[in-house]
Amino acid sequence: MGFISICFKNLHFPNKCPEVIFFRYLVTSALPYVNSRPHLGHLIGSLLPPDIYVRFLRLRGEDAIYICGTDEHGTATEIAAEKAGVTPEEWCARMHKLHKEDYEWFEIEFTNFGRTSSKSNHELTQYIFKKNYEKGYIFEKETEQWYCNKCKRFLPDRYVKATCPYCGAETNADQCDSCGKLLEPHELIEPRCVICGSKPELKQSKHLFLDLPKFAPKLKQWISSNKHWSQNVRNWALSLCDNLKPRCITRDLKWGVKVPLKGYEDKVFYVWFDAPIGYIAITKDWNEKEWHDWWTSKETRLIHFLGKDNIPFHTIIFPAMLMGTEEFILPYNIIAAEYLNYEGKKFSKSKGIGVTLEDARNLPYPPDYWRYALVQMAPETHDSDFTWKGFQKAIDELADVLGNFVHRSFILTKKFFNSEVPKPEAFTDADKKLIEEIEKAPGYVAEELSKGHLREASKRAMELVREANAYLNQQEPWKNEGVRANTLYLCLNVCRSAAILFEPFMPAFSSQVWAYLNLDEDKKWEDAGKLLLKPGHKINESKPIFKKIGDDEIEKWEKQFSGEKEAKPMISYDEFAKLDLRVAQIKHVEKVEGADKLLKIVLDVGELGERTVAAGLAPYYKPEELVGKNVVYLANLQPRKLRGVLSQGMILAGEKDNKVKLLECDLEPGAKVL
Ligand code: 2FM
Ligand code: ZN
Repeated sequence: MGFISICFKNLHFPNKCPEVIFFRYLVTSALPYVNSRPHLGHLIGSLLPPDIYVRFLRLRGEDAIYICGTDEHGTATEIAAEKAGVTPEEWCARMHKLHKEDYEWFEIEFTNFGRTSSKSNHELTQYIFKKNYEKGYIFEKETEQWYCNKCKRFLPDRYVKATCPYCGAETNADQCDSCGKLLEPHELIEPRCVICGSKPELKQSKHLFLDLPKFAPKLKQWISSNKHWSQNVRNWALSLCDNLKPRCITRDLKWGVKVPLKGYEDKVFYVWFDAPIGYIAITKDWNEKEWHDWWTSKETRLIHFLGKDNIPFHTIIFPAMLMGTEEFILPYNIIAAEYLNYEGKKFSKSKGIGVTLEDARNLPYPPDYWRYALVQMAPETHDSDFTWKGFQKAIDELADVLGNFVHRSFILTKKFFNSEVPKPEAFTDADKKLIEEIEKAPGYVAEELSKGHLREASKRAMELVREANAYLNQQEPWKNEGVRANTLYLCLNVCRSAAILFEPFMPAFSSQVWAYLNLDEDKKWEDAGKLLLKPGHKINESKPIFKKIGDDEIEKWEKQFSGEKEAKPMISYDEFAKLDLRVAQIKHVEKVEGADKLLKIVLDVGELGERTVAAGLAPYYKPEELVGKNVVYLANLQPRKLRGVLSQGMILAGEKDNKVKLLECDLEPGAKVL
């Protein structure tokens, strides 16, 4: 199938580009790992930019799909599941759901958000492996792998901590987090087993290698020909081509995709072998009929968005695997972000530094605020920082420039024209100047968006509103009856344009303004440059859309997410003695409808009788696992209603690194805890 689109380069001058080219866009975000909940860095580093980009493509009438999902195999997952005391399958199912909910809240619209542990990914991974194997691109070699004698197991990838031989930083075994270099086991300095801390030894194990040097000439030629890539990505990829070594693609692990080869029954593929194939599998899970065409047709432009540490995998390893199949297309572009830091530090869940998406969802700001502010602080060309002051500044701009302009245009139209778009007279020079700005805006914004320059694109869109604001101030239609109709006619048309130009960045703002303007037609990118609001059209009441954020609020968040936890104040023994802590036995547990995390738990508290509590334990325990446990219960906490359940006190639990365990006590129900 083919879809009509006009080539990017000539987007703004379609008349100069009479030839029509058939393209459609398959856009991906790096698949997030499930070892932890995502934070703001993940959102702006890989997930939000493709959402903005695909929304833009669709407004332009292109056929575009956005493919993403959770990257579930690998040692990081195994370790996280082990820590939480659940199986990798259970861990992944739980985390997939949480990731999905997080992204949906931020209005990231995937065509499909899948999983690399799916049946289709297992099958496709084995298929792509076989194709490469048959064509002689994969060979077997006896290798030395780290083995822990104490734990009696091999220690692939994240099961080892060591010093990086290139930059001296502490690193995992497969890729250095600090310098991004791909590492082989024998290169590591001072390795340690992450499970028991002891020094592992190198032990022989047979493994499969992707013969990257065989691909070198083809890769080099292909990368050199991609002149439209950013210099950074292209140069990095070219420099990697000069020193390609075979890459080990199997691991001594259980959790992963099985290797369909005799003698490999105890091994699985390396997570980075099956993860990018996940892009194909997730497309297949979305559309069983058309996926193959999407992945093999020359009409498809495959565009990967990712963080800079993923560059080697998307410019060298995955393309080589694809070349080896002689079946699938190669990426058209790779758009790499640098890193987002948090107030000058690295995001760190264990230290409590930074804002996770879960945290952000619980703060009193809608998704549009985050989307716009993150774009303003995006690490597009160099590492950048999320700062609360930056967040405040971005929202100030939304309120002062965009929100204020839209609201004034509506209020004045209501006051002077009874909420009807006025009929303009002959345009003055000032009007003509603004009309010119309106006409140019979609082209200017598109030029930046097409290159993945989101910050600049949003600035260009805001520039139009700034011009319009200045025009409104200068015309003073509230005083000046003679210019009133023309001015408000143009300002309302700018509101319409802004609703289109900002749609990729702030979808809720866009729908809101569309509703205020009383419009129901589909938005089209090119229409942002036209005056399509017709005189006489009735508009609705509007309310201010953005609200500035006060300094006190900002200071509160700065403190809360700084990782510097305030020590709790000392209390006296008398204060502690007020707590009536008891041993209670769990008698009955059921899920609370409409609340994913809550369980309704009935307790036997001995002499105090039966009590009911609502506890946020559903992510950590199945109801049947809890029944019969003797736990610690705070009996004299004021009762409160949670999702319709009257909770009479609480049961105590410990929490660390996503792992939650109830405090248990081997005494009769009703016993006092002293
Ligand atoms: O770096 C990461 O977060 C990886 N999970 C990205 C995988 S991208 C892909 F190829 F699947
Ligand atoms: Zn390093």
